[in-house]
Amino acid sequence: MPPLPPAHRDETSYDRRRLRQWLAGEARADVSRRHLLTLLAATAAGTALPAAVPGGEAHAAEPAATAGGATAAAADTIVKPLPPEWFVRHGTNAETRWEALRGVGRTTPNELFFVRNHTSTPQLDAADWRLRLWGDGLRGTPAEDRPVEFGYDDLRALPSVSRTAFVECAGNGRSFYGVQQGQTVSGTAWGLGAVGVARWRGVRLADVLRRAGLSPYAVDVQPRGLDAEYVSGGQNLGRVRRPLPLSKALDDVLLAYEMNGEPLPPDHGFPVRVLVPSWVGIASVKWVGDIEVSAQPLFSPWNTTFYRLFGSAHGDGSAPITRQAVKSAFELASGAVFRAGEGQVLHGRSWSGAGGIAEVEVSTDGGATWRRASLHDRPRAGSWSRWSVPWRPASPGATQLLARATDTGGRSQPDEAVHNTQGYFFDAVVRHPVTVV
Ligand code: MTE
Repeated sequence: MPPLPPAHRDETSYDRRRLRQWLAGEARADVSRRHLLTLLAATAAGTALPAAVPGGEAHAAEPAATAGGATAAAADTIVKPLPPEWFVRHGTNAETRWEALRGVGRTTPNELFFVRNHTSTPQLDAADWRLRLWGDGLRGTPAEDRPVEFGYDDLRALPSVSRTAFVECAGNGRSFYGVQQGQTVSGTAWGLGAVGVARWRGVRLADVLRRAGLSPYAVDVQPRGLDAEYVSGGQNLGRVRRPLPLSKALDDVLLAYEMNGEPLPPDHGFPVRVLVPSWVGIASVKWVGDIEVSAQPLFSPWNTTFYRLFGSAHGDGSAPITRQAVKSAFELASGAVFRAGEGQVLHGRSWSGAGGIAEVEVSTDGGATWRRASLHDRPRAGSWSRWSVPWRPASPGATQLLARATDTGGRSQPDEAVHNTQGYFFDAVVRHPVTVV
């Protein structure tokens, strides 16, 4: 087989090709095709997903997305403390409260960073940890039982790089499909707090792949986590894993072992996680234990049934979703109270998966009038920009604060997000209710 032409390594053509392959049934899926088709039919019809679907972030205890959405965890699935003034709990996950980011620097401190766990945080020992690379995309085709291995110290001895990047759940903002648009979606009812920015340090995945002996025929890599296997609706879907096209893997992806200058905390992937800048959070596999390198496209539930867009606007379903949408949030509690006649400064942050933030406009009168916010950070792809705008509320009453960002690629937040059954990519301008007294 000849090496793939460059066009096939490009992100967009990858998406199109992948979708065609899947629809044509070419997929080498590692779950039964019949099971996937059943799930696809359920999601396409807008039926509630079976309990505890993976990428859909639905949980047995959770109804379809609604406002607020805090449910107590059945068991302790997260190691770090989750003080209620910093976090909203959603089953096995915890969302950062935006008001807790007020006055915090550009990066989210580790203690405040949201956690998205399919099951629970495993306690791993760096001394025993091995990263195994295997598959027919490596020279000499190392099999799963005879892989190329790296220990923690091996990785730390390789040249390191640091990158500031957000990790954001594709379902961040999901509850607003219901709250603002009156639409039903399945999955965890996140507000806007399933996002955080950190300074990550680690080694380039590209360096590790090349050292492992990348073959010219490789097209996909699939990292897999060491957390427990994921059981959904009585079906064991195996360990969390999602394929990445080689073009992205060789571009800016890290195997990160540090977060904001500290070893990765257990909840965020200790000892090593994948960090895929600008892409949906599911790509950034935590507690990575092995990486399949393949000469054929790979499929898992996380790029077929989940993390694709289904619904009337999406035909037979979209390609696997990759880059995040544009979003904005105020560093304020929902329902915050202000005094009439008193000068205020409103603060917030905006981010995009397709570039830095070029402009943010704010409305303090429910969208009737808009003005430009001052940006406090240089636009940087893969990170957010902080902004502020002065406000002196004139008279008492209820109002809504709105923020609308435009990224350096010209993408702006719309008034309405395009519905999809699993509630991904809520990019519309969020109406933030406040009261003036
Ligand atoms: N990796 C593993 N092994 N297990 C998981 O449950 N969750 C994914 C991703 N990587 C997950 C994972 C999802 S959906 C997201 S949004 C991010 O991790 C969340 O990263 P964080 O918990 O460090 O914020």
